[in-house]
Amino acid sequence: MTEPDIKKGLAGVVVDYTAISKVNPDTNSLLYRGYPVQELAATQPFEAVAYLLWNGELPTEVQLAQLRATERSYRALPADIRAAIDLVPLDAHPMDEVRTAVSLIGARDLAGTGSVLDASGSADENLSRSIRLFAVLPAIVAYGQRRRRGLQPVAPRDDLDYAANLLWMTFGEESGEVVVDAFNRSMILYAEHSFNASTFTGRVIASTLSDLYSSVVGAIGALKGPLHGGANEAVLHIFDEIGSAENVGPWLDQALAEKRKIMGFGHRVYKRGDSRVPTMKAALDELVHHFDRPDVAALYDALESEFVSRKGIYPNLDYPSGPAYNLIGFDTLTFTPLFVAARVTGWTAHIMEQLASNALIRPLSEYDGPAERHIDGYVPDAATLAAAERAEESAG
Ligand code: COA
Repeated sequence: MTEPDIKKGLAGVVVDYTAISKVNPDTNSLLYRGYPVQELAATQPFEAVAYLLWNGELPTEVQLAQLRATERSYRALPADIRAAIDLVPLDAHPMDEVRTAVSLIGARDLAGTGSVLDASGSADENLSRSIRLFAVLPAIVAYGQRRRRGLQPVAPRDDLDYAANLLWMTFGEESGEVVVDAFNRSMILYAEHSFNASTFTGRVIASTLSDLYSSVVGAIGALKGPLHGGANEAVLHIFDEIGSAENVGPWLDQALAEKRKIMGFGHRVYKRGDSRVPTMKAALDELVHHFDRPDVAALYDALESEFVSRKGIYPNLDYPSGPAYNLIGFDTLTFTPLFVAARVTGWTAHIMEQLASNALIRPLSEYDGPAERHIDGYVPDAATLAAAERAEESAG
């Protein structure tokens, strides 16, 4: 028997076509619907990028105004969703809150739809579900951070754009231009990244013709892991451990001796550097300057240069975004929920793309467990014996 060619972790396996984004590890480039992500981050509000991911084109002024009006009308945190979040223990991870809230939003929205045969919904229904989730997630994330700090939620402001409003609902004060701009860029960079683990999870669930909310809940679960979205939080834990730039050398000696993974470095696809890092690093530099925190830049640079020179493994997007979110004032535990708020745009675009030309995603496995064995004293009935004989005959 020939050994099957198993691609552990599906590494290098091309699973399907997608028109949503293109990751090119050879040129370190990332395109959303054909546009380089750096150009989008430099010129667009996050709402316009969400529109692009969902619809394939950047919005006209009128289309952007329409999306903004809808998005602003769904920004408030509904009372029952707030009550559900309050049921999640305060010392649970906020990703558990976000997952719970999205699950309840889905149950509420789909109540009365009846049979599972209706679950996957039409393209129009799924687009409006996507917009509503996109609109309410900032309130969920902001409330999570506030309740952990013992603060009341802050109502959304419909005179602020998406990024400025998320900051407003989190901090209860208006953020300056430098902060809003850096944060807007981070959301755009996090929005989409082809068949990453969480997006693929969402597509697998969508492929069963389940509903969009179930796909997003599954994707949130996948994103929580430290090998994926949880890495931005993990980077800050590492920064806290190291303390300052002069401790980097000895800290790294020990971490490498213990064979630890250094969070924020490495990538399954990019092996020569993550295309999103220079844009996010520039945003981090602006925040460092704005908040006058050269110590953060010194630690960032020291760990990067030591690790790259020792291992040849480059930073990924989580490396600059972790300290950037910390400077903006987000609690470390809030970082991965912020990633959800951004990536929900890419997830939902992929769910709709999957449904538009669906095939159930169901790979094969090679069994390497115990050889066939039987329960002592078990005597098969006549029908089972006959079925086994028929199977043997047809096998040959
Ligand atoms: N720290 C230390 N070693 C690392 C590393 C890291 N961050 N990333 C990769 N490596 C090492 C692996 O230990 C492995 O070494 P080995 O060949 O001696 O066993 C080698 O580099 C190849 O890594 P591998 O884990 O096979 O690569 P992958 O493509 O499966 O993994 C990640 C990619 C992202 C899972 C991995 O780089 C990682 O765990 N990074 C840290 C988590 C992170 O930042 N995730 C966010 C990704 S955007």
